[in-house]
Amino acid sequence: MKKITGLVASALLVAASMSVQADGQAIYDKHCKGCHVAGVGNAPKPDDAAAWEARKAKGMDAMLQTVTAGKGAMPPKGTCMSCDADTLKAAIEVLVP
Ligand code: HEC
Repeated sequence: MKKITGLVASALLVAASMSVQADGQAIYDKHCKGCHVAGVGNAPKPDDAAAWEARKAKGMDAMLQTVTAGKGAMPPKGTCMSCDADTLKAAIEVLVP
């Protein structure tokens, strides 16, 4: 019985640690990709390292702030109004090269 409880606990741990990344990917696919892959309104593309250079230099907190407030053609929270800061951060990590 003890062994089974241990197995269940470690399976739950794995699931918990995976869900943050999976969320980021899912949110990115659903809310961010459309604009950023197509470059809508001059959105920096995921593979455009040069476009991200200056933005990365400002740091994750500054990028998170920009996304939360919206900028130019990007609506607040990149259209994911139900996203909290951690989820947006995970999506930014998927997007930024
Ligand atoms: C409607 C189109 C659109 C959607 C949807 C969108 N973006 Fe953007 N995003 C833009 C545009 C346009 C810019 C460039 C803004 C500028 O610099 O004027 C931008 C800029 C950014 C930046 C750079 C911010 C900075 O500090 O300069 C990040 C990071 C980002 N988006 C992340 C995201 C994430 C994460 C999502 C999804 C949750 C998302 N975007 C959804 C259009 C979009």
